[in-house]
Amino acid sequence: MHNFTYYNPVKILFGAGSISKIKNQIPANSNVLFAYGGGSIKQNGVYEQAMAQLTECNVIEFAGIEANPDYDTLMKAVAICKEKKVDFILAVGGGSIIDGCKFIALATHYEGDPWEILTKPDHVATKAIPLGTILTLPATGSEMNCGAVISRRSLGTKLAFGNPLVYPVFSVLDPLTTLTLPTRQLQNGIVDPFIHVTEQYLTTDLNSEIQDGYAETVLRTLIKVGKDIVDGATDYDTRANWMWAATNALNGILGIGVDHDWAAHMIGHELTAETGLDHGQTLAIAAPQVWRYQRDAKHEKLVKFARNVWGLNNLDKNDLIDKAISLTEEFFHSLGVKTKLSDYGISVNKELFIANLFKYNPPLGENKAIDSEAMLEILYNMH
Ligand code: NZQ
Ligand code: ZN
Repeated sequence: MHNFTYYNPVKILFGAGSISKIKNQIPANSNVLFAYGGGSIKQNGVYEQAMAQLTECNVIEFAGIEANPDYDTLMKAVAICKEKKVDFILAVGGGSIIDGCKFIALATHYEGDPWEILTKPDHVATKAIPLGTILTLPATGSEMNCGAVISRRSLGTKLAFGNPLVYPVFSVLDPLTTLTLPTRQLQNGIVDPFIHVTEQYLTTDLNSEIQDGYAETVLRTLIKVGKDIVDGATDYDTRANWMWAATNALNGILGIGVDHDWAAHMIGHELTAETGLDHGQTLAIAAPQVWRYQRDAKHEKLVKFARNVWGLNNLDKNDLIDKAISLTEEFFHSLGVKTKLSDYGISVNKELFIANLFKYNPPLGENKAIDSEAMLEILYNMH
């Protein structure tokens, strides 16, 4: 196991009715930017519940943050935060709203061009507006980490950043808020956390028993609840286990002291930028092909995955690996999620895709083994 420092300051308010606890978390008389998306929160009662908590604050609403939050939209919010002296941001929605608000929080106080937050990993930021979240879509883990992914449609890019200044102060996870999610978002909400775990688990075998066991538990939970969730199961425990699994998949805990991959994610972000496919959809296409390409480097972990997650035994190690990857694809298919670009009728220009992907990214994967040449083969297999 590698040395590590673990720090996660996010206060989690979990469970039915927990939105009612946020009044005490936001200083009275704050100028609060209340940020949300296209209006789902007005159809499921979350808007009213949240507003009822803000009676002692000066609320400034900012609606319309889109899925895959756009830089230009967020810069409008930055201007409002500066003008209205916003000193707290409440992000209400899915990962896109929370990510967008992390960027707004940092960009408002950034000295220099905020585009650097996304394009310069060594950018220096010293201050961010404190941020709280009410999560309505279990998927990204953004509610309990300090990362964000921002799209800039005018430039055709989608880029990630991370900064400890934007850990949420608190996040509310009320499983009942998920009951209005449409099937497509339920599908994304199973695939995305599944791949978050594999990006941190299917790498080098470092005898990290705690992290591996934790990762395997989250994966088995997602497999257990996945089909029921996509079929619209409404029972509280199923929703609660799903929501908590998705948060644990990317709150840092199962990734400490181990190697990380993230190649499927970087490929997925570029795919969303070029094709508009949802983040979860892109991962179901990219991840299995990354594993196949890297099967030698990931050999021991793929065998563990086969045995401890898929319960496979009595097979030669290579057969275990083949079977585990194909069972994962079958699991995605059982959720109604496709695993090839051609299933969506999409074909990307491979040379252009590779040029765009590596414009801001170094070679990908835990061993930096995915370069342009490797990517060509992976892309071919994704079609
Ligand atoms: O905008 P509204 O009307 O709220 O509708 C949203 C949106 O259309 C809807 N929705 C959310 N909660 C709902 C609901 N509809 C009905 N009932 C509810 N309770 O769902 C749609 C999609 O929302 P979005 O926030 O875009 O989805 P998700 O949470 O999957 O976030 C995706 C974004 O997060 C990034 C992705 O790249 C993508 O941009 N990621 C962020 C990460 C992070 N910060 O750690 C890691 C991830 O790997 C990921 O890259
Ligand atoms: Zn993801």
